[in-house]
Amino acid sequence: MKKYPPFVIIAHWLTVILLVVNVYMGFKLEDLAESQGLTEATFGNFRTHALVGMLILLITLARMYVKRKHKDELPQLQYYGETHKKIVNLVHALMYLMLILIPITGLINVYQSGVFGVCFGKPFPENAALSETWHEIHEFLVKILLVLVAAHVAGVFMYIAKTKENILKRMCLLAK
Ligand code: HEM
Ligand code: HEM
Repeated sequence: MKKYPPFVIIAHWLTVILLVVNVYMGFKLEDLAESQGLTEATFGNFRTHALVGMLILLITLARMYVKRKHKDELPQLQYYGETHKKIVNLVHALMYLMLILIPITGLINVYQSGVFGVCFGKPFPENAALSETWHEIHEFLVKILLVLVAAHVAGVFMYIAKTKENILKRMCLLAK
């Protein structure tokens, strides 16, 4: 069975794990932002979430690069038809787009709050405040990603049920 390149496989599952961690951490952060705001005491929590988010962004960009480099060797699906092909490609493309836009919107929010310099040794600024608009956009994009992931996972199992081809093996390092 033709498989995805090892880097793509590792990146896929590492992204899944990091996303679970960061979505959970993000909603905890939202509560913290509402109760205490972005202060010197809560800054560490925001920084951890931001670092995990930036790691997801880096892995995504590297994965896109590796996929592009190996584009002629990637495994192909037996599409049910043109519409199925378009939907699969659209869902994949939108998931990539969200994995890029979510960290960027989070980064903009943190940057505009004025605390960015703290990472480079500057003192914590007075009146640091997160933006309601960027918070809303960040959250909206996360919700879109969660819907896309649900559609993706359902699509994978429906494909396996219909074609009897276990495509999970193509995303697995050890399977033959
Ligand atoms: C793929 C990566 C990321 C995921 C899945 C993610 C997810 C979330 C979620 C679910 C929330 C709670 C909803 C909300 O308040 O918007 C949140 C909040 C937040 N995230 Fe992220 N995030 C990611 C990356 C980042 C990055 C890279 C940064 C900053 C550099 C960041 C900064 C923030 C901030 C500041 C909040 C709190 C906003 C507020 O409640 O006012 N996020 N994130
Ligand atoms: C956080 C959630 C997830 C994201 C963002 C995601 C994203 C993607 C993307 C973009 C692809 C296309 C190949 C690539 O570009 O690397 C893919 C392929 C795949 N994903 Fe996921 N995925 C997620 C979760 C899952 C889960 C939970 C499963 C388990 C059922 C799964 C199973 C697969 C399989 C089997 C393929 C290969 C399909 C094929 O052979 O063409 N994914 N995933």
